[in-house]
Amino acid sequence: MEKHHEKAKRGLWSSRFGFIMASAGSAVGLGNIWKFPYITGMHGGGAFVLFFIFCIVVVGIPIMIAEMVIGRHTHKDPVGAFRKLRGGPWVMVGWLGVTAGFVILSYYCVVAGWAVDYLWLALKGTFNSQHTKEVPELFGTLLASDLSQLFWQAVFMGATVWIVLGGVSNGLERANKLMMPVLFLILIALALHGLVSPGGTKALSFLFTPDWQKLDAASMLEAMGHAFFSLSLGMGAMLTYGSYADEGTDIPNVAITVSVMDTCVALLSGIAIFPIVFTYGMAPAAGPGLVFKTLPIIFSQMPGGTFIAILFFLLLVFAALSSSISLLEVVVAYYCDEKKWQRRTATLVMGFLIFLLGVPSALSNHLLANVHFIGERNFLDSIDLLATNYILPLGGVFIAIFTGWVMTTRLARGEIVKGNVKFHYYPVWHFLIKYVCPILVAIVFISRSGLF
Ligand code: TRP
Repeated sequence: MEKHHEKAKRGLWSSRFGFIMASAGSAVGLGNIWKFPYITGMHGGGAFVLFFIFCIVVVGIPIMIAEMVIGRHTHKDPVGAFRKLRGGPWVMVGWLGVTAGFVILSYYCVVAGWAVDYLWLALKGTFNSQHTKEVPELFGTLLASDLSQLFWQAVFMGATVWIVLGGVSNGLERANKLMMPVLFLILIALALHGLVSPGGTKALSFLFTPDWQKLDAASMLEAMGHAFFSLSLGMGAMLTYGSYADEGTDIPNVAITVSVMDTCVALLSGIAIFPIVFTYGMAPAAGPGLVFKTLPIIFSQMPGGTFIAILFFLLLVFAALSSSISLLEVVVAYYCDEKKWQRRTATLVMGFLIFLLGVPSALSNHLLANVHFIGERNFLDSIDLLATNYILPLGGVFIAIFTGWVMTTRLARGEIVKGNVKFHYYPVWHFLIKYVCPILVAIVFISRSGLF
C-alpha cells in the first residue's frame, strides 16, 4: 500500500493507451519526418532504408523492451534505476543518458523552431500558387536569419517547459493522445498524393530497391544510429516512461506497437516527400532542408493547400513537442529523483540551460557557418552526429548488456510477465539482447573505424 502510494506520487500513466500514446509520441517526431527522409536521400535510398528497418527489428525493439523493463522494475529515473539494480560503474550508463538527453534536446529545439517558423509562414498564407517558384528558397532565407532561429528556438523550448511543468499524466499524456492519430491520417493523405504524382514510381523504387554497393560503413552507422534516435532509445527516455507504467502492462506489446507506428510514420513521410523530389528534379541528397523545401511546393499548388499546410506544420510541431518533452523529462526526472529538486525548479533551470547550449546550433547556419567541427559539419550537424551515431548506440549496448548479462533471467522475465502477461518470444528476445545487439553494434562501430 505504502509502496503504491509512493509510485503514484511520482506519477503513473492513467491507462495503457496513454502509455502507448506517450511512448509513440516520444518516438515519432522530427526524426521521422525531418531526419529520416533527408538522411535516406544522402545515403542513396533502398539499401539504407532496408538496413534501417533491420536495425529497428533486431536491435531497436529488443532494447526498447529492455529499457521499459528496467524502468518499470525500479520505478526510477535512469541513474536511480541502475543504482538500485546494481550500482557501481553501471550508474554511469544513467548519467550518459541524462547527458545525451541534455545535448539532443539542445539542437532538437532549433530544428523544431524551423517547423514553428513554417507554421507561421503557413498561417500567413505564404504557400500559395503565386509563390510556388520561391517556396524552396524560403528555407535559405530562414537559415540566413540568426535572430529568427533563436526566436523560434526559444518559443519551442518555452512550450516544452510549459508542458513538462504540468506533470506526467496531465501534461505529457493529454497532449499526445489527440495529436498522434491526426498526424497519421494527414501523412497517409500526403503519401497517397505523392504516389499518384509523376515522380511516384521513381520515389518508390528509390526508397525500396536496394543497391547494396551504396551501403558503406558510414551509411550503416547512420542507419543504426537513426534507429536508436527514431525510437528514442539508448539514453533512458523509454526507461523513464516505463517507470511510470503500472504492473500488468504488456511491455513487449507496447514496444512492438510503438516501433511499428514509428517505422510507418518514417516510411510514410519518405513516400510523401520523394515523389516531389523526383517530380521537380530536385536532389535527393539536398540535406537537412529537404522536408521544408519539398512539401510546401505541393501545399502551394493543391486546392485548400494553405489549410493543409497549417494543419501539417501544426502537427509536426506537436510531434516534435511530444518528443522534446520526453527528452526534458529524462533530465528533470534525474534532478527530482536523485537530487531531490522540486519538479518546477528542475524544469525551469534545465530548460534554460539546455536552451543556452542550443544557441550555437541556432547560429550554426549563418553566424557560425564557417566554424567546422567534425569534418565539414557545422555545430548542429556535429553534435547530432556525435549524440545519435555514437552516444545512443553506446548507451543502448550497455542497456542490452545489462539486461542480458547482469539482470538475472528471473528478474527480467519476472518483470515482463507481472500481472499475467504472456511473452512467448522470451527466448528470442533474450538471445537478441544478450548476443545479437552487442555484436551488431560492435561490428558497425568497428567497420566504421576502418580497422577492417
Ligand atoms: N525519437 C524522437 C524523434 O524521432 C527524438 C527523441 C525523443 C529522442 N526522445 C529521445 C531521441 C530520446 C533519442 C533519445 O524525433
